Amino acid sequence: MADTIRVLIVDDIPETRDHLTKLLGFESDMEVVGSAASGAEAIELATKFSPDVVLMDINMPDMDGITATERMATAAPMSSVVMMSVQGEADYLRRSMLAGAREFLVKPFSSDELNASIRQVYARERDKQSRMAPVAAPQQTSAGGGQNPYRAPGIVLAVFSPKGGVGRTTLAVNLAVAVATDLGKKVVLVDGSFQFGDVGVLLNLNPKNKSIAELLPELEAGEPESLETFVITHSAGIRVLLAPPTPETAELITPVAIRKIIETLRHESDVVIIDCGAYFNDTTLAILDMADTILTMLSLEITSIKNMRLFLEVADQLGYEKGKVRLVLNRADTALGIRVQDVEQSIGRKVNDTIVSDGRSVVYALNRGVPFYLSNRDAQVSQDILRLAKAVVGERTQVADAEDTAKSSTKKSLFAWR
Ligand SMILES: Nc1ncnc2c1ncn2[C@@H]1O[C@H](COP(=O)(O)OP(=O)(O)OP(=O)(O)O)[C@@H](O)[C@H]1O
Ligand SMILES: [Mg+2]
Repeated sequence: MADTIRVLIVDDIPETRDHLTKLLGFESDMEVVGSAASGAEAIELATKFSPDVVLMDINMPDMDGITATERMATAAPMSSVVMMSVQGEADYLRRSMLAGAREFLVKPFSSDELNASIRQVYARERDKQSRMAPVAAPQQTSAGGGQNPYRAPGIVLAVFSPKGGVGRTTLAVNLAVAVATDLGKKVVLVDGSFQFGDVGVLLNLNPKNKSIAELLPELEAGEPESLETFVITHSAGIRVLLAPPTPETAELITPVAIRKIIETLRHESDVVIIDCGAYFNDTTLAILDMADTILTMLSLEITSIKNMRLFLEVADQLGYEKGKVRLVLNRADTALGIRVQDVEQSIGRKVNDTIVSDGRSVVYALNRGVPFYLSNRDAQVSQDILRLAKAVVGERTQVADAEDTAKSSTKKSLFAWR
């Protein structure tokens, strides 16, 4: 790595600061630009040195790490915070993310974990900066690694929910089929629930040696030429990249790896749909960062609504535009005392799409391993998914189609997706 990552260490315990300074001293691509003993000093040094990464202790006597991180957003906006805590609780993680931290390390951590976190955060930020460059040159001319240079990248749809079991996999699978069969798009579905992925079950797919796990060694070696060998073609007309067969492998999937995968797949397809895990970690964040649209699912349950409110705050902190996050209410008619209007009032936003509850079609299809969009195309639940597909993919296509016709261009693959 040619760049040097400039790091500021913040911890009130002198031994911890020394230890971290020594550890990072062994890394040729990192430089410790300063160390601070308090939140106030951290802000002062960050303003002065503008470090790439700030390693921030969460518990400090004068100003805690969360408050310091919040202030850092204005004092040193180019610095990314990695929060360190002895507590790994979800509440700490969430509060850190809300404050603007990009990573969360639970003490004690190994030097490998520390170095990997710093490099990931740095790479992610650099990637984001380059994507936010004012003149985003179309990638058609620069694409390498076997990607078709004349093909505009496809759109990336992340199906996410801040709470599990609300129907992400159901939506991801059936949406993929709807976009492929009814909108005629080249679709690839990625099971991003790396630990306990269910996409293979819903599609009745279980081939050996074909999952993201086999792809990892190839990614280590550099940019993959194509992912064709690892992707399965399903009879429903979609291509699928499955999650690893065992949960342990999930830990090996880094944000850098998933970013490379999505980037390659979007050059090979019109639409990349990712069924994400229901929790925040660096890989989920990498996917959400890359997504053009995040289909954020919720149900009419108080816990789902509460988590959604928190997620929307985090999304705001992460700088996602409002239009990037689309709210999808699943099982919309099982209103056990909560109305859609109540939900909207509670989260302060309109629900964009609703999907009806249809246990019969959904569970029957699940148990047979056939997407209900194929077996029960006329059911309301399928129609709801088609409406959503048209809203997120179809409309853009129509705009692009219209522009294309106007220009009498024959290069259909150069659609302006974004
Ligand atoms: N619209 C619907 N109508 C009826 N049942 C549904 C609907 N959507 C999902 N379900 C059911 O809800 C359950 C959870 O769905 P699914 O597995 O898609 O959720 P998930 O968010 O992917 O869960 P996990 O967190 O386990 O990954 C399943 O039993 C599914 O059949
Ligand atoms: Mg799932």
